Amino acid sequence: MKDVIVPAHAATFIAGGGRDVDSARMQLDLKAGEHVRLIDMNNEELGIAIADPENDRLRLLALPSDGLPSIGGALLALRVERALAWRRQLGLPGPEHAYRLIHGAGDGLPGFTCDVLGRVAVVYVYGEALLAVGRQLAEAIVGFAQLDGAVVKKRARGGADNVTQDVIGKVPEKSIATEHGVPYEIHPLGGLNVGLFTDMREQRRGLGRFAANKRVLNLFSYTGALSVTCARAGAETVTSVDTSEGVQAWARGNFGRSGLQPDDKRWRFETGDAVRYLARAIRDKERYDTVLIDPPTFSTARGTPWVLDRDYPKLIEQAASVIPPDGVLWLAANTHELGSLAKLAHKGLRAANRTGAIVEQAGLPPEYPTVAAQPQDRYLQICVLRLT
Ligand SMILES: C[S@@+](CC[C@H](N)C(=O)[O-])C[C@H]1O[C@@H](n2cnc3c(N)ncnc32)[C@H](O)[C@@H]1O
Repeated sequence: MKDVIVPAHAATFIAGGGRDVDSARMQLDLKAGEHVRLIDMNNEELGIAIADPENDRLRLLALPSDGLPSIGGALLALRVERALAWRRQLGLPGPEHAYRLIHGAGDGLPGFTCDVLGRVAVVYVYGEALLAVGRQLAEAIVGFAQLDGAVVKKRARGGADNVTQDVIGKVPEKSIATEHGVPYEIHPLGGLNVGLFTDMREQRRGLGRFAANKRVLNLFSYTGALSVTCARAGAETVTSVDTSEGVQAWARGNFGRSGLQPDDKRWRFETGDAVRYLARAIRDKERYDTVLIDPPTFSTARGTPWVLDRDYPKLIEQAASVIPPDGVLWLAANTHELGSLAKLAHKGLRAANRTGAIVEQAGLPPEYPTVAAQPQDRYLQICVLRLT
């Protein structure tokens, strides 16, 4: 195994808990996936990393304190057992449950994440270089979490296309995972996203408070997980808007699985662009008491790429125009900059000539640990406002 001497700032980053070491300016000649020993300027060992040149990263997986000579089965077993112990403490594992089991650096596995969805694990690796260890990790997860199988998917930069998949054990085309007793259909082999975002679990738990007896509009509704939650909580109507015909059919299936008739007039599924939908709703003077907006980070559905800072305030402005006084605007965004979603909300509401009070701000649930040295890993923000 080669030794790599890291510069002082990288050694400081590692000492502070950093695990995804930026190698952009280190003149390295390493093969993708090569395991290397990192040492500081004083020849102190910092641990063993996997070279991930595609992302300009050295993924530091093994620490001297692990007392293991390599990144292999023993280390992965250690990490998976510790990760499982934390999720058990949180009461998450169960026969069909959905939860995040591995969250990158926060679980000592930089470059890897894993969701458990019922009987199947979905392991994501963030670079080609990590695929071999990703497979070993998936095997460890299937064993320790007692699952039927796992699929390893490589996340490509900047989008959900061209996902490579590696299957371990038994992985069906379709399966069911439950959350708080609510069943959701999962397509483990479908693509990058498999039907349920585990990072929204705590939000789904609390959403009923804003939905009971309300007319709810869910923009970018995907497989309808938030819509089902609102309908089950006793919403008067739930309108789900998404550009994809396929996910709308999936959402209807999820309604049915919860004993909600998808053909009931109270549940509407509109296939189309969220911005156009709002423009029409404003023209027709429609009103919604609660509007949920959870846009994708990357989307070219409208011909041009979605840009959070530019496009979100405009969307908020439009949404505010269909919400009556005392109505609720529930916003989600993939951004780690603290408070930035509240700022975007403020900008959008000002443009609409409305004001609002923040009634809740939230982020990732507790099974998404992140290391303080990598603040950008806390990628999710939720901001709920009550409009005046
Ligand atoms: C991040 S997912 C939403 C997740 C969903 N809120 C949930 O909790 O399950 C983004 C969704 O937005 C949809 N989408 C992308 N661009 C859109 C647009 N312009 N209008 C409506 N839906 C769009 C995609 O098809 C995808 O289903």
